Amino acid sequence: MTTVEESTMDESALERHFEATIAADNRLEPRDWLPEGYRKTMIRQIAQHAHSEIIGMQPEGNWITRAPSLRRKAVLLAKVQDEAGHGLYLYSAAETLGADRADLTDRLINGRQKYSSIFNYPTLTFADVGVVGWLVDGAAICNQVPLCRSSYGPYARAMVRICKEESFHQRQGYELLMTMMRGTDAQRDMVQDAVNRWWWPSLMMFGPPDADSPNTAQSMAWKVKRHTNDELRQRFVDMSVPQAEALGVTFPDPDLRWNAERGHHDFGEIDWAEFKQVLKGNGPCNAERVAHRRAAQDDGAWVREAASAHAAKNAGRIGA
Ligand SMILES: [Fe+2]
Ligand SMILES: [Fe+2]
Repeated sequence: MTTVEESTMDESALERHFEATIAADNRLEPRDWLPEGYRKTMIRQIAQHAHSEIIGMQPEGNWITRAPSLRRKAVLLAKVQDEAGHGLYLYSAAETLGADRADLTDRLINGRQKYSSIFNYPTLTFADVGVVGWLVDGAAICNQVPLCRSSYGPYARAMVRICKEESFHQRQGYELLMTMMRGTDAQRDMVQDAVNRWWWPSLMMFGPPDADSPNTAQSMAWKVKRHTNDELRQRFVDMSVPQAEALGVTFPDPDLRWNAERGHHDFGEIDWAEFKQVLKGNGPCNAERVAHRRAAQDDGAWVREAASAHAAKNAGRIGA
């Protein structure tokens, strides 16, 4: 018989194992006991990340049929397909925490779980494909490289592979922009216009300022997160400025300048009111993105049903 005292001891031993694993910088695995708060935080973060990959296919997928050459089409197809793979990979990681994939999709299309605010902006010209690759995938890399050391094993390992593919995405975007910048004035204007529209939303991808980010401290203590939002945002700005110079474009920020004392670039105030509006569902494309995802889910119902029926039939055969 287990006494109350013994079960309390078990619980605290498990908790000590959890704390010790984190303190030693080791990974927590699906077999390990996890505090409920940690499990919930990880499910929320991984699901949001998975949703972002899947919704993120839409803005660029929009240009596959209108890519200007076979080469550009093949590259863009591969990139968008990678994003689908990232999403599926991450849903699998969430499943190791006990989440149900169908339930997560349900939450996404019913607006109960979020995805990155960046994908609620439209891609107006083909230059946007390049700028999304350069800045959006670039910001994603800044965010995700430290997650390769995240304390949850399946998430950290997924990140290693995803980051390798993201760096291909960023290069393809930059290479596309380089090509356009060597083209006509009209092409250069298209690139600058796309940069003007995507720069500030890219900075918002790092999330609210540290002072306004209530979950950061706990996530850092759990080593889910390794740097604060503002640290990562600063790193991204510092990294992007020389890339913009090499490309021959400017960022739409009159306050952007090198600060020798800090050893970093200063930059202007982000429009957090816009960020909050987009998160609330009022960005330029929120409704369209979710409606598109819902339609895809409905259109694919017969495939899921057929696959389940096939699996059940096979299981029956093996049983017999
Ligand atoms: Fe991705
Ligand atoms: Fe990507």
